[in-house]
Amino acid sequence: MKDLVSISELSKENIENIFQITKEYKERFKDGERKFSDLKGYSILLVFFENSTRTRTSFELAGKILGADTINISSSSSSVKKGENLYDTVKTLEVMNTDFIILRHYMSGAASIVGRSVRSRVINAGDGTNEHPTQALLDAFTILEKRGSLEGLNVAIIGDILHSRVARSNVKLLKKFGAKITLCGPITMIPRFASALGADYITTDADETVRDKDVVIFLRIQLERQDKPYFSTLNEYSVLYGLNDKRIGLMRKDTLIMHPGPVNRGVEIKSEFVYGGRSVILDQVENGLFVRMAVYRYLSLKDGEKKINS
Ligand code: CP
Repeated sequence: MKDLVSISELSKENIENIFQITKEYKERFKDGERKFSDLKGYSILLVFFENSTRTRTSFELAGKILGADTINISSSSSSVKKGENLYDTVKTLEVMNTDFIILRHYMSGAASIVGRSVRSRVINAGDGTNEHPTQALLDAFTILEKRGSLEGLNVAIIGDILHSRVARSNVKLLKKFGAKITLCGPITMIPRFASALGADYITTDADETVRDKDVVIFLRIQLERQDKPYFSTLNEYSVLYGLNDKRIGLMRKDTLIMHPGPVNRGVEIKSEFVYGGRSVILDQVENGLFVRMAVYRYLSLKDGEKKINS
């Protein structure tokens, strides 16, 4: 296993091992350790063709904490602007003895193509509407911290399922651990192959969906991927699918409220609930750092060293 492109590549045991490393890093960090040498001498290139705050920053910070050298490359300031294609860009970066390429790209499948083209380890930081595997890892780690187990949990994912790489990776991961998944959104934003993703229930009724759930993940409306209107107005969307006063009243008091970020306040979640009592959105962001440290470490281990629990 050289790359992390899709949750499909990870077994339950692989994921448990990554979580074990995550837990250890988090504990050591909380105990005051701020610098590790596990990736000393490694070079990491962060190649982002789409905007990012959480993913790019946490991958960079994680690399620096582990002792690696990190360099940022964006499409707007690189030779991509002069017309260089993705293959030539990553082949050029590879020969500079790059150990890791962290790639975010608007094209579904980009990370897979790059992974097969270079010797460097490639981590998918989000490819089009396909996958965002480290987001799913940090989401599951956050749920595990709060609930102890994923087995049998009722998890709802509400919103723009059609364009959501977060939903795809989350369904794959949570199903491996025995969670029951409901996908909910406007009919125009539910992909025709939604059942093939592995969800247990698919619905357009957000009021019914939020009842009796252990976890509700609200998704960002991805206006940048919408070539045509999928709903009438943001206000209508908010009334029908957002977390508002009515819907929070329908939820259990202990339901975890999650969102991968960035949140369109007042659309997917009413402003006062974004960091409110049941929200674990900032825990998700915090855990993103430790999960990404763990993914670097896991991928840098030799195959024989990867079975941490055995
Ligand atoms: N969740 C997530 O991918 O956020 P960013 O776009 O800020 O990285």
